[in-house]
Amino acid sequence: MDSRRTVREIRGCKGKKKLVVLTCYDYPMARILDRCEIDIILVGDSLGNVVLGYGSTLPVTMDDMIHHARAVMRARPRAFVVFDLPFGSFQSSVEAAVENAIRAIKETSADAVKLEGGKRNHETIRRLVEMGIPVMGHVGLTPQSVLGMSGYHVQGRGAAGEALLEEAKGLEAAGCFAIVLESIPASLGGRVTRELAIPTIGIGAGPECDGQVLVLHDMLGLYDDLRPKFVKRFAEIGESVEAAVRAYKNEVEDGSFPGKEHSFGEGRG
Ligand code: KIV
Repeated sequence: MDSRRTVREIRGCKGKKKLVVLTCYDYPMARILDRCEIDIILVGDSLGNVVLGYGSTLPVTMDDMIHHARAVMRARPRAFVVFDLPFGSFQSSVEAAVENAIRAIKETSADAVKLEGGKRNHETIRRLVEMGIPVMGHVGLTPQSVLGMSGYHVQGRGAAGEALLEEAKGLEAAGCFAIVLESIPASLGGRVTRELAIPTIGIGAGPECDGQVLVLHDMLGLYDDLRPKFVKRFAEIGESVEAAVRAYKNEVEDGSFPGKEHSFGEGRG
């Protein structure tokens, strides 16, 4: 019996328990996240930046996402796992979106898909939900639109806040079970959260959201190329890795590694 979290459980957290969400792209990290009882693992297309070294999420392909989502799923997480549909996999037509979402679910066993954008996705979301595929929405700063947005800027300030609220309501009406709100004023994050019946997951959207998500490599101090204001670094793992690699290099060069305890004798042991 699969004991993974269900979409009903996730929706049921609204107003009762803050949802804890992190991105993840591989097996060892998925095991750690699951030991910590993270609610939702997002196999995000931030993969492109923080693991694959691209300057944006635009080059990420379905094959990249599937490869990494399968690695995460091999950890058999109890967390609810969301597969982020990458740029180009759902924008061209509803049919393409449906085909790629089915592929994501069939080939990885993820629990849901996420897609960026508002109104233009309504038909796709309705079709996926009708087919039984839970959909997470994503509005505010949507990194797949970096070219059109002329960079990564805070969204929904001033009069634009009203439009963003309407977008979020539209996604709820289309059938999303939760919505990511990225880089918007905290007051707007609170307002959207109060006006929707489904959970909001904030990333740079203030403390009133129903849950929070961060990119794992950002919060661990493993990625430095971009440092948005909303990222809190809970560790400096990059520095620890660097220290370990330097210690290894020194010991190999001065001959102190491998020692006797790391070497085999002629006998057993
Ligand atoms: O790809 C990603 O990591 C995301 C989060 C920033 C929400 O979409």
